[in-house]
Amino acid sequence: MNSQHETDRRRRGLLGRLHHAARNPGRIYPYLRRTARDTMLRLRHRDHVSYYRAVMADDAARSPHKAVGSASEERWLALGQMQFDYLVEHGLTPSDRMLEIGCGNLRAGWRFIEYLEPGHYYGVDISPDILVHAQRTLSERGLQDRMPYLTMVADLTFEFLPSEHFTVAHAHSVFSHCPLDVLRECLTHIHRVLVPGGFFDFTFNRTSGAEYQVLREDYYFRTETLLSLAEELGFHAEFREDWEERPHRQSKIRVVKPKPEES
Ligand SMILES: C[S@@+](CC[C@H](N)C(=O)[O-])C[C@H]1O[C@@H](n2cnc3c(N)ncnc32)[C@H](O)[C@@H]1O
Repeated sequence: MNSQHETDRRRRGLLGRLHHAARNPGRIYPYLRRTARDTMLRLRHRDHVSYYRAVMADDAARSPHKAVGSASEERWLALGQMQFDYLVEHGLTPSDRMLEIGCGNLRAGWRFIEYLEPGHYYGVDISPDILVHAQRTLSERGLQDRMPYLTMVADLTFEFLPSEHFTVAHAHSVFSHCPLDVLRECLTHIHRVLVPGGFFDFTFNRTSGAEYQVLREDYYFRTETLLSLAEELGFHAEFREDWEERPHRQSKIRVVKPKPEES
């Protein structure tokens, strides 16, 4: 049984969870706190985006770095570097026009902004609280002259963005927090804003067993589900095997919008 299977088994079912708790007692209090918050926010917010926006408001008020999943400044810098290095090694050039979905507080975004030509970075997020921290990152890094766009969105339809404009799109640790209908919405509409030949890289929590979620915060998908969804929506989709070598728990898929002669 590989480690992915073991994680799946541990997280599913009451016995599995009790076993996991016994082995990780330090995680019990944060889990109970998250469960209580989930119950409260679930009652207040019926749709997923407003629910998750409230989660981010709470998390960002405690620590913006932790809100995007990094326990320390050091980890925040390392995780941003990992995303940046991978994309540059796999095709990102300074003249690309990049859309970053769920840009957070610019953990990787500030590196993209520094690298890309001015005005070529467009970050969107559902959370106004984390976007305030994104602006702080920009000023702390002295990147004001790069003129990035940072915009709050209510959904992932990109209605306000031009067709066939972006050459690259990126979403790191975003789909791990979204149900399948949000992924479908994103993939459906991102097709319009990408140029033919443009690509979209995203990470996801991978399971090889049944798909599941933890509270309404973390979602686990089978690779085949996402590859066939992307193909159904007109992309060429590929699981990125070489990303698995990096020290990160999520997996990565690249979807490419075919050029007319390829479709
Ligand atoms: C774990 S953080 C990762 C942030 C950034 N991508 C990074 O790697 O640092 C997830 C981010 O996605 C945003 N997010 C979650 N669901 C979203 C959605 N449906 N549309 C856009 N952003 C979303 C959250 O507000 C949060 O900023």
